[in-house]
Amino acid sequence: MIEAKTSLLDIFSDNLATVLPSPIHTFSERVSNVPNILKLTIGEPDFAIPDHIKQAAVHAIDADDSHYSVSAGTIALRKAASFFLNKRYGLNYEPETEILTTVGATEGIFTILAAILNQGDQVMIPTPAYPVYAEMARINGGKPLFVDVSQDSFILSPKRLRDVIDANDNIKAIILTNPSNPTGVTYTADELEALADVLRETNILVISDEIYAELSYDRAHVSMAKFLPEQTIVVNGVSKSHAMTGYRIGILAGPAALMTEFNKLHSFIIMTPSNPAMAAATEAFSNQQSFQDTIEMKLEYQRRRDFLVTSLSQLGFEVGTPSGAFYIFAKIPQDLIQDDISFANDLVEKQQLAIVAGSGFGPGGEGYIRISYAASMTMLEEAVKRLISYTTLVRDKQLI
Ligand SMILES: Cc1ncc(COP(=O)(O)O)c(C=O)c1O
Repeated sequence: MIEAKTSLLDIFSDNLATVLPSPIHTFSERVSNVPNILKLTIGEPDFAIPDHIKQAAVHAIDADDSHYSVSAGTIALRKAASFFLNKRYGLNYEPETEILTTVGATEGIFTILAAILNQGDQVMIPTPAYPVYAEMARINGGKPLFVDVSQDSFILSPKRLRDVIDANDNIKAIILTNPSNPTGVTYTADELEALADVLRETNILVISDEIYAELSYDRAHVSMAKFLPEQTIVVNGVSKSHAMTGYRIGILAGPAALMTEFNKLHSFIIMTPSNPAMAAATEAFSNQQSFQDTIEMKLEYQRRRDFLVTSLSQLGFEVGTPSGAFYIFAKIPQDLIQDDISFANDLVEKQQLAIVAGSGFGPGGEGYIRISYAASMTMLEEAVKRLISYTTLVRDKQLI
């Protein structure tokens, strides 16, 4: 083993020093070694990729499509993404100038933040939220400005937005997640329009993370870009909609003048995305068959969601029915351990069931747990059995 030169150990940037390892991943990795563990921790679709999408990647490899592309991604993919955004959400983006292919939504969001943040700039994040946003803001010198919306059914209201804007003078961007990880809530057209009316009066950039847009159960997804296209960057991709997390293809869509600058930075980070992955994503975005594939996955997710909502409610968890994504965000019943981290640890210890503690998603997540239902029905049924055993055991003890 090579020991690093001791004097290099504090070589890291001050920004990186503010970043903590993700409590969710630390927990998930730690419990992996527990015998008989059942993990419902990570948002990883369990479906195989449809054959026609795989074949597109295979074809690119066989055709020796093995050279550098362009940093914005192949024009074929950008055209396919433009077609998809138009067909599915009624958005209009020019493939040549207004769409960028990224290495997953992750690199897209990182690129935007790296491009816009100066030291100390604030990034508004309604919470509970995907924890990666705050750390990305910090790495790039920004400061997360958490806005706890747990008391408002997990939806940011225009009044709250206005109050936060009035109380802070350094907000550069807001990250809206619709549908949300971890809560599964989705914004209606009216809610988005009301937020857009407030934001239009400001110079705050809207980063609209719509990676779960295709997994909207109760109504068609509405994009923030419908109401505020001049100020919004839409983040989407094939990771969740097409079960292609490992292909690492995301997209950004927004006004050309902003996209040019994002592309400048993005090209230095990644040079170009991978060709076979782009070929597969082109197929996913452009072939109408994929829309059907997604609908089938969605129906299955919906079945799992309904099963979990019913089962958890019967056990005394407070659960709103999530209208999107594939997570249940449930309040721990009063007669069980109230500290969500201790609860998650106790569940692992007593029943070998791993779920995520809500406090990892920021202010407002305390006292909640997140269960991912991107897992087979058999796994979910087993998870519910273990939860029943757990709650019965704890409640029986309390009676004694
Ligand atoms: C809200 C949200 N945005 C982005 C991502 C990452 O997407 P990708 O795999 O395309 O980078 C995730 C993954 O869990 C997520 O939950």
